[in-house]
Amino acid sequence: MSTGIVRSAVVPIAKRLLPRSFRLWAKDVLNARRVRRSPGRVVLVNEILPAYAACGGRILWVGCRRYTREYGALLERKGGTCWTTDIEITHAQWGQRGRHFTWDLVGIDELIAEGAFDSVLCNGVFGFGVDTRAAQLAALKAMGRVLKPGGRLLLGWNTDRVADPLTFDYVESSFVADGSIAQGGRITVSGAGYVFDFLRRRE
Ligand SMILES: C[S@@+](CC[C@H](N)C(=O)[O-])C[C@H]1O[C@@H](n2cnc3c(N)ncnc32)[C@H](O)[C@@H]1O
Repeated sequence: MSTGIVRSAVVPIAKRLLPRSFRLWAKDVLNARRVRRSPGRVVLVNEILPAYAACGGRILWVGCRRYTREYGALLERKGGTCWTTDIEITHAQWGQRGRHFTWDLVGIDELIAEGAFDSVLCNGVFGFGVDTRAAQLAALKAMGRVLKPGGRLLLGWNTDRVADPLTFDYVESSFVADGSIAQGGRITVSGAGYVFDFLRRRE
C-alpha cells in the first residue's frame, strides 16, 4: 500500500479523534523541524548568530517561534544580553524569560529608549506580518532609533515575499554595509531564495 493511500486514510481519522489543540501543537512541532533543517536556518544558526554573539552588548531578537527558543542562550554565550520581542502574546513562551516584550515592531521605538541596543536581529519578520512597504519602512526607522550609533542590524528576508529592503532611501542614508559579519554585508543563500543583510547604523 502506498504511503499516499495510508495518509489519506489516516488524516481524516486523526482529525476526528485528536483534539484541535493537539493537532495544532503537532503541526507546529513538524514546522519547527522543517525550518531547523532549511539551508538558510543552518547558515543563521551556525555562522550568523555566533558572529553576533561575539560582538556582545545588548541584543534584540525580533520574532519568536518554537524553533528560535534556543537563540537567546546562543546569543548570550560571549557575555551579551539578549532581549526578545513579538507582536503575538502567545509567542512570549519562546522568548527570553524576564526579557521579552509583546509589542509591534513598527512602533518598537515607543517602548524602547533611543540607542538602547548594540544589535537588532530581524529575521523572517518582513513578509510574515510586516508586509507592506510602508510598514517595513516604519519598522526600519523604529529599529534604527533603538540602535546605538554604530549599532548592528540584521535583516533576513525571502526574495519571493519581500522587495529588497536596501532600496529604501532611509536605509541608504542611515546605515552602511557591515562587512565585519559577512563580506560585503550580504549573504544570499543560493537556491533557497533567502537573503541576509548586515548593516550598521551610521555614527
Ligand atoms: C516567520 S516568523 C519568524 C520568526 C523568527 N524571527 C525566525 O527567525 O524565524 C515571524 C514572526 O514575526 C512575528 N511578527 C509578525 N509581525 C510582527 C510585528 N509587527 N511586530 C513584531 N513581531 C511580528 C510573528 O508573530 C512571528 O512570530
